Amino acid sequence: MDVDEFRRRGKEMVDIVADYYSTIRERRVLSDVQPGYLRPLLPSEAPNEPEKWEDVVKDIERVIMPGITHWLHPQFVAYYPSGFSFPSFLADMLCNGMPNIGFSWIASPAITELETVVLDWLGKALKLPSEFLAEAENGKSPQGGGVIQGTASEATLVAMLAARHEAVKKLQSEIPELKDHEAQGKLIAYGSDQAHSSYDKAAIIAGVKFRRLPSDKDFSLRGAALEIAIREDVEAGLHPFYLLTTLGTTSSCAFDNLLELGPICQKFGLWMHIDAAYAGNAFICPEYRPLLNGVEYAESFNFNPHKWMLTSFDCSCMWLKRRAAVISAFTVDPAYLRYAESDSGAVLDYRHLQIPLGRRFRSLKLWFVLRLYGISGIQKYIRKHIELAKKFETLIRSSDLFEFPVKPMLSLVCFRLKGSNDLNKKYLQALNDSGKIYMIGTELGDQYVLRMSIVSVQTTEFDVDVIWDIVKSIAKNTIGK
Ligand SMILES: Cc1ncc(COP(=O)(O)O)c(C=O)c1O
Repeated sequence: MDVDEFRRRGKEMVDIVADYYSTIRERRVLSDVQPGYLRPLLPSEAPNEPEKWEDVVKDIERVIMPGITHWLHPQFVAYYPSGFSFPSFLADMLCNGMPNIGFSWIASPAITELETVVLDWLGKALKLPSEFLAEAENGKSPQGGGVIQGTASEATLVAMLAARHEAVKKLQSEIPELKDHEAQGKLIAYGSDQAHSSYDKAAIIAGVKFRRLPSDKDFSLRGAALEIAIREDVEAGLHPFYLLTTLGTTSSCAFDNLLELGPICQKFGLWMHIDAAYAGNAFICPEYRPLLNGVEYAESFNFNPHKWMLTSFDCSCMWLKRRAAVISAFTVDPAYLRYAESDSGAVLDYRHLQIPLGRRFRSLKLWFVLRLYGISGIQKYIRKHIELAKKFETLIRSSDLFEFPVKPMLSLVCFRLKGSNDLNKKYLQALNDSGKIYMIGTELGDQYVLRMSIVSVQTTEFDVDVIWDIVKSIAKNTIGK
């Protein structure tokens, strides 16, 4: 493909995406293929000779689309959102057109510098305390700043590894003969029983113990549960070092109580990390910012614009009060990556703040989104989703078939049929078998519940009515009314 053909095909590809977007309602939301569907549709070996563009494009419908669950479908109401907007898409085109790997400043100064500035913009828009920003304040050299990770899971792990590094050093300063693995064996991290599964995985990778603590009746982790666990574990000879808090849990969008947990972390010297993967997006609206109160106690904070801020995967923003804590845990300096500005300390290399070496120009799409929507456009988008969820909540309330296991929160409504868990599982299966919506279930305590999450950039009031009609009629069929 030469440059002239690329111009032509590139425009065709934008048309393919635009057609997909504007006709998506005609598609079945949830893919209904069987496992292994794809292999028989393709030859058993890669082609030896080049094929024609037209033939490859034809196979998108034949081979790929049957196995796609359409996350952009307005009646896709599963999980949490996967961000999308045309500005983000177009910025990613440019990013792909310049496949520069921005691991160090010198490798492409704009990649590093735009990321630093855009994360300060976003940090200010969320009213993060100034210690989390990289911009110098009152002539003081900043200790904090943001970094774009691929996912919230990586942010959790990065913070855990930095906290582990500091905790091992601290233990060794108290008991100099303690070997690294002996110190590490004493470390214990905490999260709530509602915490995301990525916290368990982070602890496996970091090689530390992880204890899930009981949340309260609203599924929030409270200070008393943490303090009891710390005292028990210290008594047992362990060293508590890290608390993972969640603002907006995956199952029910519950919020851990930072104002209680923060002072306890300070008292016992634990690193407090905040995972606000989904809910953090809403903090850009002043009316939801109080949900972040207590962030001042945290060492690190993370949320995913690739969930709910019109930005496509992957773009997970993490802020640190002390970037040096991660840098000193991660720095490896081979000769082939060294250069004058880095050696003199004049610049930051983002490779020291993440697990892989390579990194894409992810701040570009965030920059496009922030400029082309403005903070006000993003607020409007988030508020619209929350209003749609409220509308759905009102419709559910209008029927006596349903109950709410928890208070609906932001754009998530957890609900269930009055009846057994088995009945609710059967109900969810029937909803998804309809092909018209895709929803998932979860467990809250001993109750099986359905999660209706407004996620698609395309969902409108009309779609909420369509979803309600399906939810209501299949409920009646399921309970045999
Ligand atoms: C609270 C929470 N944390 C972490 C994650 C994992 O996000 P990621 O895929 O960015 O690692 C999710 C996913 O929805 C989540 O809800």
